[in-house]
Amino acid sequence: MSIRRLDHPLAEHLVTILRRADTPPERFRAVAAELSRLLAWEATRDLRTAAVKINGPLEVTEGRQLDEPIAVVPVLRAGLGLLEPIVQMFPNVTVGYIGLERDDRTAVARSYYCKLPNLSGRFTLVVDPMLATGGSASQAITFVKGAGAGRVRMLCVVAAPQGIERLGKDHPDVEIVTAACDRDLDARCYILPGLGDFGDRLYGTE
Ligand code: PRP
Ligand code: URA
Repeated sequence: MSIRRLDHPLAEHLVTILRRADTPPERFRAVAAELSRLLAWEATRDLRTAAVKINGPLEVTEGRQLDEPIAVVPVLRAGLGLLEPIVQMFPNVTVGYIGLERDDRTAVARSYYCKLPNLSGRFTLVVDPMLATGGSASQAITFVKGAGAGRVRMLCVVAAPQGIERLGKDHPDVEIVTAACDRDLDARCYILPGLGDFGDRLYGTE
């Protein structure tokens, strides 16, 4: 298992805005989207490209173009907040959806929706901003592997040590790309210091 933390001042700045309790949903959504671009940029560094000859304005030259099919799979609800920028960055992306919800009492995630395309050979980004116990991410990755996903990468905004360890055990082949690595979980399995409930903050619910 490996983990890559976004190492950029802008990423730190954006995470700080998300952490502030008084950041309103409208701003929270905009900042989450900006961060999503940076995460996707980092997570796709090693995408396969192929040489291509092009007619430039002055001469024929050689360039490189993307040569690996990509899929993105947000985990509902919170993952939806990171989806749109990735679709804009990679216009040929295919999108699947996984609905998971943690039980308030046990913090164990229950699956309520799964709509995945054939992911065979696709470089697949599983997108869920909060990696707390890791239960949701682990289930989501199992689903995408079941749909044939090739290389799988986990994109999150904040990762707790417990979630990192869980994914390392359940899916050692999956690299985690995160904007922040936090300290611990509280008694309700919320990340500390974290930023609260990402879905609630994104959509103004409680
Ligand atoms: C949150 C979050 C993750 C999950 C992380 O979702 O978006 O999916 O918790 O926790 P875990 O690592 O302990 O599984 P939640 O279940 O609150 O649903 P929501 O996105 O619909 O609010
Ligand atoms: N889900 C969230 O949205 N936040 C946490 O801290 C943990 C799980």
